[in-house]
Amino acid sequence: MTEIAGKAAVVTGGGSGVGRAVAHALAAGGARIVVADILKANAEATAASIRAQGGVAIAALCDVSERAAVRALKIKANEAFGPILIAIPNAGATSFKPMDGLSDDEIDWVVQVNFMGVMNFIQCFLPDMIAAGEGHIVASASIAGLVPDLVPAHVPYSGAKAGVIGMMLNLRRELEGTGVQSTVFCVASVDSGMRANNSKYRPARFGGPYEEEVVVPQNFKRGHARPPEEVAPMVINAIRRNRPMLVSDPDYRKAFMERYLPLVLQAFDDVDAYYARTNAG
Ligand SMILES: NC(=O)c1ccc[n+]([C@@H]2O[C@H](COP(=O)([O-])OP(=O)(O)OC[C@H]3O[C@@H](n4cnc5c(N)ncnc54)[C@H](O)[C@@H]3O)[C@@H](O)[C@H]2O)c1
Repeated sequence: MTEIAGKAAVVTGGGSGVGRAVAHALAAGGARIVVADILKANAEATAASIRAQGGVAIAALCDVSERAAVRALKIKANEAFGPILIAIPNAGATSFKPMDGLSDDEIDWVVQVNFMGVMNFIQCFLPDMIAAGEGHIVASASIAGLVPDLVPAHVPYSGAKAGVIGMMLNLRRELEGTGVQSTVFCVASVDSGMRANNSKYRPARFGGPYEEEVVVPQNFKRGHARPPEEVAPMVINAIRRNRPMLVSDPDYRKAFMERYLPLVLQAFDDVDAYYARTNAG
């Protein structure tokens, strides 16, 4: 079990939604928080509101898709609070557009932020945790990664988030015996800033930022949206109870059981049948 009180934590995407709520929940549990975000004013606002509630927090500007920026974030976090033993790579950006016609910029942006953003973060922050023999990383993936054929017009995003699930579960295996723990958070149906603000998160080198509301395809029925404050305690529980995976919306069990699981089992049935035929022949 990782104790939260007295630890230093970094939360990326801490300026809004899930990240902001998790930063508050960690601060309420007695952690000192670095709130990192590509939108500095939002990071400042979260840090200020934590301090106003008696917590300890600073803000940092960071684009997680830039490895150098994540390295600079680590230096700043260490200078402020020493070794970081709770790490929450949560920043993300979405895209609901058909693959046929997607620009290079759109693909690179979504993959670099959602996949490489987590990878860059782990690469920078893991060594101090290994050296300390303790710590916990919680990375935000998505139900769109756990049931990758669920959401239409979502190829780079679902692919990147499925990649985060693979990355985190493989990391967990690597961490056995080190004292460092990890959780992959399959976020779903949270009422956050993503729909209204997503395009504002797009870095200039990927063609942003601009103003455009996210349009979810009509043939996708999203689950009942929950406030971020309702899901943040799940993250705290996952840290305290060392859970490998966290899902925030129980309603997607059906999609997993009916869409994804049969598809995998069918593949195994097919390979069994193939070898049965081959061996019989
Ligand atoms: N809200 C949902 O229903 C939902 C569903 C599935 C997955 N998620 C995932 O949950 C995580 C949190 O999203 P949210 O719902 O709170 O959305 P949000 O839009 O409220 O918050 C995302 C935060 O990430 C920051 N950000 C974006 N790009 C960044 C970058 N390059 N570097 C640093 N910060 C960056 C934004 O400024 C924002 O503060 C994301 O990884 C998202 O993909 C959310």
